[in-house]
Amino acid sequence: MQRTNLRIIFCAFSIFVLQSSANIEPKTDPNILEDAKLDTFSLIRKYGYPCEIHRIYTEDKYILEVHRVPHGRNETSGGKRPVVFLQHGLLSSSAEWVLMSPGKGLAYILADSGYDVWMGNARGNTYSRNHVSLKPTSSAFWKFSWHEIGYYDLPAMIDYTLAETGEQKIQYIGFSQGTTVFWVMTSMRTEYNDKIVAMHGLAPIAFVGNIRSPLIKALAPFTNSLERIFKILGRNEVLSNGKINELAGQSFCIEEAVTQVICTNLLFLICGFNEDQLNATMLPVVLGHTPAGASTRQLVHFGQLYKSKKFVQFDHGWITNKKIYGSFKPPAYDLSNIRTPVFLHYADNDWLSTPPDVDQLSREIKSVFGKFRVPFSKFNHLDFVFAIDAKKLIYDRLLNIMAQFI
Ligand SMILES: *[C@@H]1O[C@H](CO)[C@@H](O)[C@H](O)[C@H]1NC(C)=O
Ligand SMILES: *[C@@H]1O[C@H](CO)[C@@H](O)[C@H](O)[C@H]1NC(C)=O
Repeated sequence: MQRTNLRIIFCAFSIFVLQSSANIEPKTDPNILEDAKLDTFSLIRKYGYPCEIHRIYTEDKYILEVHRVPHGRNETSGGKRPVVFLQHGLLSSSAEWVLMSPGKGLAYILADSGYDVWMGNARGNTYSRNHVSLKPTSSAFWKFSWHEIGYYDLPAMIDYTLAETGEQKIQYIGFSQGTTVFWVMTSMRTEYNDKIVAMHGLAPIAFVGNIRSPLIKALAPFTNSLERIFKILGRNEVLSNGKINELAGQSFCIEEAVTQVICTNLLFLICGFNEDQLNATMLPVVLGHTPAGASTRQLVHFGQLYKSKKFVQFDHGWITNKKIYGSFKPPAYDLSNIRTPVFLHYADNDWLSTPPDVDQLSREIKSVFGKFRVPFSKFNHLDFVFAIDAKKLIYDRLLNIMAQFI
């Protein structure tokens, strides 16, 4: 507990320093600084890949932006390609798949391997902050958890992708919360099992009872008060793409800056530690795009899962639960409804998607076809998308599995 407290203080201090140090002279590769500022579309175009932006309306009237890389760099359009849909993690966006540049970022690797790549953006993040009638400045806009992302956003984006490409079924890759929302969708709207030919879960999250992240463990006891505190503060949104990203992208996390250690520690504090696989030169780019915003309810909902050790719907308190669910406790997601072939990829040093929790998940989903440990013991949560050797350690295997479904 002592050490945990110290770490929180350190974390709070880091954020404070980050926010109050706008005037450090940038001294890093201008190319890196540019990448830190470009949005997903411009970043993809900068590296010579085709990119399209699609706007999609959900049943409950959120407007989402989906990014598509229809083919690889040296190919022309036309001809049918297998379609893959990518869904990002918590506090992130479609940028996650392209930040590491061609040859490293998963979206580029897939496009160059012959896939038509679609990348979703969950409501509330940098690219999906629109609604037909609600303003993102109103708290009504932010009344959602990842439950709604899985129940409304994913089905809307997948149906759109199917219609646009004329496919019956597509492959799905989710990272972290990008897997959680898939479990929500396929357990509650079971017809979507038939629209996905194979699901590939990177650092899958459903049961989180064994989380090792000190920051999350320290905050968890306050889960229920957290939402109330945020409400009083008038904050329905956490860590939007704004000041922190801007500063980090500009100057703060550059190589050889004394302050870089703070950048890395902030990330590691939440997600686990592996300096070996983190390319420090790329930190400004990562922090220029992450965090990309989420509702406080998304965090509170994960906190509830940690406390209950169950994979259940949002706990509104027993009176509201009774009204909404007909029971005093929130119902569990019925994972036995999932029929899509599932492949899980996990790592020993992942503080959020821990081996025992992934084990439990793979027992409860009946259609798990394969469970793969990353063959590198220090591999952590963020390494699944940012590691220097991600291609060698995961993506090559992922491509082999995917080829079986074409
Ligand atoms: C693909 O395009 C890039 C950039 O235009 C070029 O440098 C590279 O040589 C091309 N690769 C192949 C295999 O044609
Ligand atoms: C780290 O990123 C920089 C900039 O993209 C790149 O030049 C360098 O080769 C990368 N290092 C490793 C070990 O991949």
